[in-house]
Amino acid sequence: MATGPVLEIKNLSKKYDDVAALHDVSFSVNKGELVVILGPSGSGKSTLLMSIAGFVKPDSGSIILNGTRINDVPPYRRNVGVVFQSMALFPNMNVFDNIAYPLKIRKMDKGEIKKRVERMLEIVGLSGLGSRRITQLSGGQQQRVAIARTLVFEPSILLLDEPLGALDRKLREEMQGEIKKIHDRVGATTLLVTHDQEEAMVMGDRILVINCGKIEQMGTPEEIYNSPKTLFVSEFIGTTNIFKGTAVKEAGKTIFKADEGFILPVAEEVKGAGYASVKAENIKLFKSRQQAGAFALEATVTQNFFSGNNIKYELDLKGVLVKVIDREPKEIFKQGQKVYLKISPEHVKWFPK
Ligand SMILES: Nc1ncnc2c1ncn2[C@@H]1O[C@H](COP(=O)(O)OP(=O)(O)O)[C@@H](O)[C@H]1O
Ligand SMILES: [Mg+2]
Repeated sequence: MATGPVLEIKNLSKKYDDVAALHDVSFSVNKGELVVILGPSGSGKSTLLMSIAGFVKPDSGSIILNGTRINDVPPYRRNVGVVFQSMALFPNMNVFDNIAYPLKIRKMDKGEIKKRVERMLEIVGLSGLGSRRITQLSGGQQQRVAIARTLVFEPSILLLDEPLGALDRKLREEMQGEIKKIHDRVGATTLLVTHDQEEAMVMGDRILVINCGKIEQMGTPEEIYNSPKTLFVSEFIGTTNIFKGTAVKEAGKTIFKADEGFILPVAEEVKGAGYASVKAENIKLFKSRQQAGAFALEATVTQNFFSGNNIKYELDLKGVLVKVIDREPKEIFKQGQKVYLKISPEHVKWFPK
């Protein structure tokens, strides 16, 4: 058995007519890892997953599973498990037979099948429900059957393409926890696709951010959130304000002059045209200019959204929409109220044009 990564993707490219769905994509996945592929709709996530599963043929590059290049291996011989959003369970079979199906077509011994299916039922929390019909299960239970049916033949890697996309919010959050638990119990190396950044944050050991077929960044949720490498990642993750302007040095200090005329302090030594990125929760609001300090910015509240444990604001700062999230609200600023923004230099991320 080879050591090293379970999956290696090297310089993978794929075009549909003129559209570059994947462009020179390279990364690897370690044994037992849960890697989330995160990107907007049309960014190439499914093309990447389907290339690994063998249903899409890349134009160039290599897909290496357990040390072996599998580009020319047909899908059914790749030992890869795939779960789509549409689960395609067999409605005429009960839960047990659905999960047993991949083992039956592999002509496994009946006793062994029973043992494995019982174990899978336990792992996905459906013990005792083997004789239920698929139609008698909730959406979340059906999802778990789909995952059990895929895990039962012990694939080298589990591929999940937006498996929770069809579920409502509450069930979705529940299933995020379920899939993570199943992953931890089985230790299955997993690639999960989502366009939902919060889902990526809670589920991923690492996140691969993809945009227009190119990898923007790969890292832990903390790295992606706190140290975005590109303007795209900075904007895509969390609630982020992007200001356009110029960085200059004045009196020995670097400052950012927005095109609209306001000024932000910058900790990094940078200069030239570019963008300042500030996360919504890193902007503090005050009633008076003095409280907000030397770089206080005057703005007007245009909207406030109270949601129990935080307040979200939209402000007008010299004609620019600024989003602020107050996670420890002590007071609510009202629509039309004048407020003063405090933005610390370490919270201003700079991206050159
Ligand atoms: N079979 C296809 N034929 C032509 N274009 C395709 C096909 N599949 C995907 N695309 C295009 O490739 C790009 C990436 O698609 P896809 O991998 O499905 O993205 P995602 O899963 O991130 O939404 C999109 O621009 C999409 O329109
Ligand atoms: Mg897709």
